Amino acid sequence: MSLVLLSLATLCRSAVPQEPTIQCGSENGPSPEWMVQHTLTPGDLRNLQVELVKTSIVAEDYSILMNISWTLRADASIRLLKATKICVTGKSNMQTYSCVRCNYTEAFQSQTRPSGGKWTFSYVGFPVALNTLYLIGAHNIPNANMNEDSPSLSVNFTSPGCLNHIMKYKKQCIEAGNLWNPNITACKKNEETVEVNFTTNPLGNTYMVFIQRNIILGLSVVVENNLTRTSVAITVTEESEGAMVQLTPYFHTCGNDCIRRKGTVVLCPEPSGPFPPDNNRSVLGGCLSILLLLLVATWMLAVGICVMRRHGRIKKTSLPTTTALLPLVKVLVVYPSEICFHHTVCHFTEFLQNHCRSEVILEKWQKKKIAEMGPVQWLTNQKQAADKVIFLLSSDSHTACDSSCGQSKGSPSQDLFPLAFNLFCSDLSSQTHLHKYLVVHLGEADIKDDYNALCVCPQYHLMKDITAFHTELLHVTNTMSVKKSQACHSSCSPL
Ligand SMILES: *[C@@H]1O[C@H](CO)[C@@H](O)[C@H](O)[C@H]1NC(C)=O
Ligand SMILES: *[C@@H]1O[C@H](CO)[C@@H](O)[C@H](O)[C@H]1NC(C)=O
Ligand SMILES: *[C@@H]1O[C@H](CO)[C@@H](O)[C@H](O)[C@H]1NC(C)=O
Ligand SMILES: *[C@@H]1O[C@H](CO)[C@@H](O)[C@H](O)[C@H]1NC(C)=O
Ligand SMILES: *[C@@H]1O[C@H](CO)[C@@H](O)[C@H](O)[C@H]1NC(C)=O
Ligand SMILES: *[C@@H]1O[C@H](CO)[C@@H](O)[C@H](O)[C@H]1NC(C)=O
Repeated sequence: MSLVLLSLATLCRSAVPQEPTIQCGSENGPSPEWMVQHTLTPGDLRNLQVELVKTSIVAEDYSILMNISWTLRADASIRLLKATKICVTGKSNMQTYSCVRCNYTEAFQSQTRPSGGKWTFSYVGFPVALNTLYLIGAHNIPNANMNEDSPSLSVNFTSPGCLNHIMKYKKQCIEAGNLWNPNITACKKNEETVEVNFTTNPLGNTYMVFIQRNIILGLSVVVENNLTRTSVAITVTEESEGAMVQLTPYFHTCGNDCIRRKGTVVLCPEPSGPFPPDNNRSVLGGCLSILLLLLVATWMLAVGICVMRRHGRIKKTSLPTTTALLPLVKVLVVYPSEICFHHTVCHFTEFLQNHCRSEVILEKWQKKKIAEMGPVQWLTNQKQAADKVIFLLSSDSHTACDSSCGQSKGSPSQDLFPLAFNLFCSDLSSQTHLHKYLVVHLGEADIKDDYNALCVCPQYHLMKDITAFHTELLHVTNTMSVKKSQACHSSCSPL
């Protein structure tokens, strides 16, 4: 009896036509149907849509694919439909192109689903890269004949970056610390101090914390190897309530391009005692416009390394506080007038002051004094007062600088560089005085022929030589061996 019922059921099922499903496979070349003339072809498709899907191949290894869905036009031509072909062109650094062909397993017997509603299918495939424009085209097969209009539908889809809730599972994003929740909390302790807490990540050990509004109000470097909750007190130059906290991590996987996190400074529940202000902060605060962030990013690494070498590991301190306890190195910085003051000198100064225990003497800040005593006397005095004299050279171009900084064009600063060079040149030939001079190159900068004599000085290319530079700067009393390069022809012929 049951056997009879079973066979009846089987009979019934085969009587009702199966609903078509799709079977998809790669077909990058032309479809075989393309070669044949068709008198009748199916209509086009409708409503081509793309969304992201996360698929887990093995645990913790996700692949992000496209879920492409489409709807068939409900007309009589559906009976002719055999397959739908989808081609995806990806446009990023490299162009990619691939197609799949999805065969319908059965011929369509009705214009709509037996259950009602249009025929809708979806195909999951085509791996998605970060921030890439995809051109997705689809057409039905058999296609129109060669000289006829081929009905097809196309959509563009731009994949998002790591911040997207699905893309963040991409390996690249995970490695960039995407799944890291630093859980930043920041509060204004008093007029000069902001306390920032965040959770570090074992992917890296250097973090830069900024307090900024339009300008940077304060910054600090945190070096921490372990996964832990860290607290840092940052000295700020201006009202900090409501300011933004930006946390920039430096993970080995993403270097300077790691995803930055943001937070907001709120008032601390219980304000504590006053915090000593930093004298130069207000001057510097003005210097640091948001435009400088790029440069800051470079410095941050330097600072990180600088600090790392010095303290091994810093926890629960802000750099200004730490540095204040240590003896200062007086540094006179001379730079050619082509260097952008705001972009380069200011930042370099900030770096020296905050992270290399240095007190910086800059011509720009002593204009009045220079006018009073004359540049030669001023330079002579500063040379005597300074522990180190740094000749700062940069490939930073002047044009880029003027357009992006609000530099005062009214009073062009006097170029003290050639004067300083000539004044100090005699020292460069004497071993006893030479230890005082350093040359710092930023970018691809090189010593110009006119200043060849400088090549006897220790040279540091930042960021490459940051550790050596830092060591040199902080060992002011040490006499050092000077290695003269073969190509070095020191000459002090006046300019
Ligand atoms: C789809 O049909 C074509 C033509 O019949 C065939 O060449 C192709 O292998 C089929 N593809 C799949 C995935 O079944
Ligand atoms: C793909 O999209 C279709 C239509 O939106 C949906 O029905 C289907 O569940 C999606 N597939 C996956 C794997 O998300
Ligand atoms: C898709 O992007 C391409 C290239 O940018 C453009 O030429 C085309 O018009 C876009 N198509 C649609 C449907 O937006
Ligand atoms: C973030 O920190 C706050 C305050 O310390 C805490 O209450 C919260 O649970 C933390 N959230 C996460 C996801 O760690
Ligand atoms: C930071 O952490 C310290 C120590 O756990 C806590 O006392 C302080 O309230 C926290 N501050 C913020 C802004 O979350
Ligand atoms: C940090 O990690 C190192 C090595 O894993 C360990 O020896 C040290 O005790 C940790 N420090 C803290 C404060 O957790």
